Amino acid sequence: METQNRHLTTSWGAPVGDNQNSLTAGARGPTLIQDVHLLEKLAHFNRERVPERVVHAKGAGAHGYFEVTNDVSAYTKARFLSEVGKRTPVFIRFSTVAGELGSADTVRDPRGFAVKFYTEEGNYDLVGNNTPVFFIRDAIKFPDFIHTQKRHPQTHLKNPNAVWDFWSLSPESLHQVTILMSDRGIPATLRHMHGFGSHTFKWVNADGQGIWVKYHFKTEQGVKNLDVELAAKLAGENPDYHIEDLFNAIDKGDFPAWKLYVQMMPLEDAKTYRFDPFDVTKVWSQKDYPLIEVGRMVLNRNPDNYFAEVEQATFSPGAFVPGIEASPDKMLQGRLFAYADAHRYRVGPNHHTLPINKPVVEVNNNQRDGQMRSDRNGGNSIYYEPNSYGGAADSAAYKTAAFEVTGSADSVPYDHDDHYTQAGDLYRLLRVEERGRLVNNIVNAMKPVEKDEIKLRQISHFYKADPEWGQAIAEELGLRVPQLS
Ligand code: HEM
Repeated sequence: METQNRHLTTSWGAPVGDNQNSLTAGARGPTLIQDVHLLEKLAHFNRERVPERVVHAKGAGAHGYFEVTNDVSAYTKARFLSEVGKRTPVFIRFSTVAGELGSADTVRDPRGFAVKFYTEEGNYDLVGNNTPVFFIRDAIKFPDFIHTQKRHPQTHLKNPNAVWDFWSLSPESLHQVTILMSDRGIPATLRHMHGFGSHTFKWVNADGQGIWVKYHFKTEQGVKNLDVELAAKLAGENPDYHIEDLFNAIDKGDFPAWKLYVQMMPLEDAKTYRFDPFDVTKVWSQKDYPLIEVGRMVLNRNPDNYFAEVEQATFSPGAFVPGIEASPDKMLQGRLFAYADAHRYRVGPNHHTLPINKPVVEVNNNQRDGQMRSDRNGGNSIYYEPNSYGGAADSAAYKTAAFEVTGSADSVPYDHDDHYTQAGDLYRLLRVEERGRLVNNIVNAMKPVEKDEIKLRQISHFYKADPEWGQAIAEELGLRVPQLS
């Protein structure tokens, strides 16, 4: 906390004479409109809030660095990954998904894991979660899905009926629901969880050759989760438990760290892999595509100011650098639009110029003006292209690598409907006591569901993943496993 004895000023820098007593007509008289310092204070106060993020509203942030520990330059020309030992500053924001800005940290929810790398080729954002998969696999379903996670339009209460109705009618969610309902659904702290890019991305090397990658951040603190009763108690007693833990750990020099790995899949393999590798509800087998080390991320500095840094931070899955590109994943494609659009609404069209979002390299383009332009706005440099004055120009070396497209334009479902093998494998991987807790968590979450039809439909998914699992849930809910088609 800075404590210098500075003179209090107005927002225009003029010294303030009295900040405790407003200017009144006589000692007991009404307040004068002439007290512009008072007017400014009240007016600014009314404008302190910006819209909270529509999802991932509650979060904690930290600064740190990323260091390359393995040479991956044969696979990507991204300069921040070009040599072992190279360090790049990062800012990370962890978050819960469904709750509002003031909601409790220790709830069952995926956790956001958004990393901004301030590279010498511009900002690269890896906006992932603490889970390797997601509930749905097409962006067109996202607003409906999130409606079921948020509050009911009439009661303003959370609505388990909508949650399980949607999930049971969207069986592709089963894998992520399994992770969410397992012990990992409530991490002990933000330091004790892994992070994943979840989607498939493309790395491109200096020769223009591409390879598909998936990112895995492995916590060096080890994975730890919270017991359900303790989590509920903490949610009441200290709803900011996770934010506090991260801040205090960094404050006392106990810097959390993660190792970054990638799985790499040759482009050709994607055409014949046993399922669509761009389907974000699936993981790639690590037997087929083992983890390859890339580097290490360390968080070693707390933000000075929560609003300026954490609230105003804008992460976008579309913030790529040369050597890292999108895949055709239908969720990722939707996200390439959604985030930058959210930032323009939530923070403003010039959000890139705020210190937390500003690249460490010069920004040269012909975007000008707009609300709250706080940098030089391009000064008197050339502001259109083409031009005859040597304005900033593009370079073919940085073009997106050309890629093949096939087929007819159409709205088509994924051709792979096995939602059960990976979820069932995960269930079978759990120890007996972990399975017990998984069943318990699911049963408690499903009990308030009004319609048996919804419960039965969901039970049939668990059953298809593993009969023992479906049976256990049905019994606990006092239902019979439905006839399966
Ligand atoms: C935040 C949309 C799927 C991770 C957000 C925000 C939007 C959004 C609008 C708020 C952004 C802001 O106001 O700054 C979507 C859409 C999705 C999708 C449309 C699907 C089509 C995902 C997936 C992941 C994810 C699959 C993880 C793999 C995050 C994270 C944040 C976030 C970590 C918080 C970023 C921060 O800390 O500022 N999402 N999302 N989202 N989303 Fe998504």
